Amino acid sequence: KIVPVILAGGSGTRLWPISRDSLPKQFLPLSTSGGTLYQDTLQRVAPGEMFASPIIVTNEEFRFFAQRQAREVGIEPTVLLEPVRRDSAPALIAATLLAQSLHGDEATLLVLAADHVIGDTGLFHEACRKAHGAAKLGNIVTFGITPTEPRTSYGYIRRGAALNGGSAAQVEAFAEKPTAEVARDYVEAGYLWNSGNFLFPAHVMLEEAEGFEPEIVDAVRRAVTTAKNDLGFCRLGADFHAAPSLSIDYAVLERTSRAAVVEGNFPWSDVGSWNAMREIGETDEFGNVQRGPVRVIDAENSYVHSEGPLVAAIGVSGLSVVATGDAVLVMPSERSEEVKHLVASLKKER
Ligand code: GDD
Ligand code: MG
Repeated sequence: KIVPVILAGGSGTRLWPISRDSLPKQFLPLSTSGGTLYQDTLQRVAPGEMFASPIIVTNEEFRFFAQRQAREVGIEPTVLLEPVRRDSAPALIAATLLAQSLHGDEATLLVLAADHVIGDTGLFHEACRKAHGAAKLGNIVTFGITPTEPRTSYGYIRRGAALNGGSAAQVEAFAEKPTAEVARDYVEAGYLWNSGNFLFPAHVMLEEAEGFEPEIVDAVRRAVTTAKNDLGFCRLGADFHAAPSLSIDYAVLERTSRAAVVEGNFPWSDVGSWNAMREIGETDEFGNVQRGPVRVIDAENSYVHSEGPLVAAIGVSGLSVVATGDAVLVMPSERSEEVKHLVASLKKER
């Protein structure tokens, strides 16, 4: 069986004012099913024929969200807690070491972002089966998505030689978060977006991580060895602090020669902005998405969402309006990437 690992410790700032440091987007009820993106992710890899019981890695402060929301969908995961944020590489390596101790050296892991929307679970499982085949050849397998535009917030993958009769390909180059100009070249040259989910044999990931980032692996290994079990949580030891902060994309994917890619032909969104929320939401006949206590007249292609007061709009086009009890955001939808700069400047003032 494949061991699912869900990385749920990130702080989505681009969906401010609804997503906050203290309650990031993976734990918010943003899914069209009424649940959270984290719950959708858990259900996508529910224990059964294909998947073992999942490991969740998250920050100490999110432990009750992680546990309670899993129980709500009938899943009792292993919740691994970080004492401090160190980005995805230390989190992923900690889960890999834990999976090895639970399932043996030969364990195969599927590491998932907690905050993505995947539209077709059947197609996703089919891609996982192909990825499993490529992982057995000793690869860290990525899921590539056909780009629709040159986004700078993604990793880009150049395909090389075919593997397993064309169900996968070797990764010839991996470039994380390129500049806008380079991203444009990549899209033209047929690169794929990295979806941010990975399937691999535990020992391959550890060998590669050890080679490129021995300091991270050292610190995390000590933190796992000294981890303490407490009321259903597994708390990593204080040595976790010593791990440098780095994402797995920079730490391993950009540098390894043992990566493969499977084309993910499932509908995918990382819900990275309010514009993306509009694209995945249910639109009315004028292209508007309305959530919560909202009323619009003569509006088109707008996203209007309130978690607090009644919000009304007349005659607007291409606008995003998001209101909570203590903040209101108004902007042209196409500028929704800039919310992260706004949040950064608000933090500085505090
Ligand atoms: N436990 C834990 N601890 N999880 C973390 C941490 C951490 O310190 N930091 C991030 N994560 C989790 C996030 O919650 C998310 O589920 C996942 O790791 C990826 O982190 P992001 O911060 O969302 O990465 P990104 O979106 O900038 O980039 C990644 O995803 C893109 C696709 O959405 C990369 O893999 C890109 O290459 C990829 O294109
Ligand atoms: Mg992300």
